[in-house]
Amino acid sequence: MEFVRNLLLFLHLLGMAILVAMFFLQRRTAPEGPLNNPEGPLNKGWLHGSVLQLLTGMGLVGVAEVMDRDLNHVKIGVKLVVVVVIAGLAVGFQNRERIANWLTPTLAALVVLNTGVAVFWS
Ligand code: HEM
Repeated sequence: MEFVRNLLLFLHLLGMAILVAMFFLQRRTAPEGPLNNPEGPLNKGWLHGSVLQLLTGMGLVGVAEVMDRDLNHVKIGVKLVVVVVIAGLAVGFQNRERIANWLTPTLAALVVLNTGVAVFWS
């Protein structure tokens, strides 16, 4: 069971890396925009990364229950809400040709928020 937990945590951390990478990729497509490209579409990686976080996060919760590890359920609830907002925004803007100016910094801030919650909230 310890191996399954490590595997899920490994994928969970890679999912976080995907979301961080999306921020820079989204900026890179926009030489003319300050933080993102208002002319360009939203990268699908935002959706893939957030769904990976959701699935691996739920897997980690399940493994913690099986292993009788104590988890802070309020903290998990907050992470769940934040990731649903990220995925929701990614779905909502998926088929738009132009994305709003605030979208890329907002998505990045939500990723940073969840990382902070994961690390500082015990
Ligand atoms: C953008 C989304 C997310 C990010 C950036 C993120 C980040 C992280 C990080 C950095 C860790 C490692 C913390 C540590 O080991 O000290 C972690 C662990 C964990 N995360 Fe997330 N997470 C996200 C979403 C979620 C979601 C949606 C859930 C639950 C549904 C979740 C549940 C967990 C659990 C259960 C652990 C392991 C805690 C433990 O066993 O000690 N995460 N997360």
